[in-house]
Amino acid sequence: MLRGFILVFVALLVVASATEVNYCGSSKKFEDPNSVKISGCDVPPCKLRRRTKASIEYKFTPDEDAENIVNNVSASIFSVPLPFVGVDGTTACDNIFNLDGTSAGCSLKKGVDYIYKREFPVLQIYPTISMTIHYALMDRNRTVACFEVPAKIIN
Ligand SMILES: *[C@@H]1O[C@H](CO)[C@@H](O)[C@H](O)[C@H]1NC(C)=O
Ligand SMILES: *[C@@H]1O[C@H](CO)[C@@H](O)[C@H](O)[C@H]1NC(C)=O
Repeated sequence: MLRGFILVFVALLVVASATEVNYCGSSKKFEDPNSVKISGCDVPPCKLRRRTKASIEYKFTPDEDAENIVNNVSASIFSVPLPFVGVDGTTACDNIFNLDGTSAGCSLKKGVDYIYKREFPVLQIYPTISMTIHYALMDRNRTVACFEVPAKIIN
């Protein structure tokens, strides 16, 4: 009786936990398993349902001060990068928060922790295939933060 109770509790914790993601350009996992949370995805490949919104929370720490952060998000399908329409190339300034929840804007300090939060639509036109999502925040041509995660679009 008590044991069943504990198992249910553990299962709930797992559902609310973070997503395993990799460093960009490598298959090495992030050391801090709580850096990235993608809705409904603890263990990749993340299943992204068409006509829903996926939400992402990403805690990151810039190595250098940054002034102007742009989303650089693509899906790599057989090694061909396809930009995520409506996200790639847009400003990320409105999506960056301090740990206390206040807006951080675009002027970021090196060594300080920030949280990036954003939803993006999984469009009906996306093909239902497996891919690797490359999610980067860039200051001009410099990568400020980046992760990759396997995903699959589903119906
Ligand atoms: C995203 O990054 C790639 C590689 O650094 C670059 O070629 C591409 O132009 C960038 N896209 C945007 C929208 O900044
Ligand atoms: C980034 O851009 C600056 C100037 O805009 C340039 O000097 C530098 O070489 C570029 N770095 C890379 C990695 O392309």
